[in-house]
Amino acid sequence: ALEGYEHYMQKEIAEQVDALSTCMNGRIDLAGSRVVLGGLSNYLRDLARVKRIILTGCGTAWHAGLIGEYLFEQLARIPAEVEYASEFRYRNPIIEDGTIVIAISQSGETADTLAAIEQAKDRGAPVFGLVNVVGSTIARTTDAGVYLRVGPEIGVASTKAFTAQVTVLTMLAIELGRRRHLSQSDAHGLLEDMLNLPEKIAKALKLSEEIKRIAKANIDQPNWLFLGRGLNYPVGLEGALKLKEISYIHAEGLPAAEMKHGPIALISEGMPAVFVATQSSNYDKIIGNIEEVRARGGRTIVIASEGDEQIADYADHLIKVPEVREPLQPVVNVIPLQLLAYHAAVLKDYDVDKPRNLAKSVTVE
Ligand code: F6R
Repeated sequence: ALEGYEHYMQKEIAEQVDALSTCMNGRIDLAGSRVVLGGLSNYLRDLARVKRIILTGCGTAWHAGLIGEYLFEQLARIPAEVEYASEFRYRNPIIEDGTIVIAISQSGETADTLAAIEQAKDRGAPVFGLVNVVGSTIARTTDAGVYLRVGPEIGVASTKAFTAQVTVLTMLAIELGRRRHLSQSDAHGLLEDMLNLPEKIAKALKLSEEIKRIAKANIDQPNWLFLGRGLNYPVGLEGALKLKEISYIHAEGLPAAEMKHGPIALISEGMPAVFVATQSSNYDKIIGNIEEVRARGGRTIVIASEGDEQIADYADHLIKVPEVREPLQPVVNVIPLQLLAYHAAVLKDYDVDKPRNLAKSVTVE
């Protein structure tokens, strides 16, 4: 079933081109500037009126949820926050009328996420699922939901499920936005760009050899930082998690501006700092953050937009990715980070698909 690939993770990274097409298939009505999510169709009217959205999940699904939080706020102007399922389940959360919960899970079997769903249901909140595995426990226990449709994910490190989770959250944020304040032309532009995502991902996948060289040049460094601002902050968190879990290299993801509140003390000569610095409203700010790290001897690995001519001056290693509208950029930006982790693990000769101490589906607490 590897179909010529060496590892499932490698195959699943490559599959994202088709997987995202399948995920979006029939769900984007470009002419009408609308999104059609069959599983939620009876609920969308009410969803557009909610006062608050709580997103929940674990690990990579939580990272997708953080992107969802930013997008619901930005595109739909609905207050949203993401909660770790493992924390949410044991708190005494305030869930008022008008709050809904969205649970995100590839497997649909994660014990903490299930318990968070039960907690929300006990308090009377409608719960919706973003799940990959059809008929899984979470798919069955939620009131309604959207399937990711990316096919089986075998590698323990989640890749195509993550980009699909972000894609579904983006579609949902656009549709809720349309029902609230988002203009038809803004929605149209975003949806048009979404349909181009598979092609942009295909382009980003071509960076693989270049990224392998960067991994090789830095493989002996024991500590890495992943930094971004805005939507690129959760992308950095995801990059750090991928590197940790399969290559056993210590990595930390942070909002870039938090560096000066402590972590910048860590920077020593040659320490890799991966900046996710594609075009955005806070581009100038992140350039400042890159300079601060470089001035202290950090080795900067910068992910930037294809058209960016000025950033080369700030990067020890530069990775240029195709540009899409800012709210959609996370799906493209995470590709080089998935590849970086993959190549690092292969270089270290680790079991990429079955990292130590980890299980694909975490059904115990
Ligand atoms: C990371 C990873 C885990 C899962 C987490 C949630 O690559 O795979 O962090 O994302 O255990 O799993 P699901 O999505 O199955 O609930």
